[in-house]
Amino acid sequence: MTTRIAILISGRGSNMVALADAIENGKLPNTEIAIVISDQPDAKGLAAAQERSLKTLVVERRGRKREEHDREIVSVLREERIDLVCLAGYMRVLSPFLVDAFKKRILNIHPSLLPLYPGLDAQRQALEHDAKVSGCTVHFVDNTLDGGPIIAQRTVAVGEDDTVETLSARILEQEHILYPEAVALVLKHGFDE
Ligand code: GRF
Repeated sequence: MTTRIAILISGRGSNMVALADAIENGKLPNTEIAIVISDQPDAKGLAAAQERSLKTLVVERRGRKREEHDREIVSVLREERIDLVCLAGYMRVLSPFLVDAFKKRILNIHPSLLPLYPGLDAQRQALEHDAKVSGCTVHFVDNTLDGGPIIAQRTVAVGEDDTVETLSARILEQEHILYPEAVALVLKHGFDE
């Protein structure tokens, strides 16, 4: 059986590309990206997905409340028979409706060593705290902000001269390694029903 993955993006989509590359390179056997969904029509990642011949769909917010927007996303996920949802730079907090519809089947990547520095600007938060080490985390999504069970992490040393840009770039390199590793772990373990 092939595991059908949906990737939700809002922007650049480099983690989406890393997952697509891992599948192409045989690092995630029996897995396919069934659809890439963006809430932003101008997300750069949409073009990157199309270049790779991945199916894309824009589900715009259109001023709707979170749950109403998510109901449309859930119906697409069901139509596509999605097994696993990977958030990759998706900038809208999910409603409990979506989280509960795909319980323990939604992953997120965050640019810090959670539970440190949840929310926005995680790299800036690390610098403001004079952290010597930061990194990235893939975790299950629950109804807390960046608070669900941690699946895997990679660390990055923070240098004295680091800026938000330099630190973000080094963390991003690790994110691209981590996300496929974390998906592999989840698939190896199987889904709890
Ligand atoms: C990454 O830093 C990710 O950890 C965070 O948003 C950024 C998305 O980058 N959640 P990209 O769109 O995958 O390039």
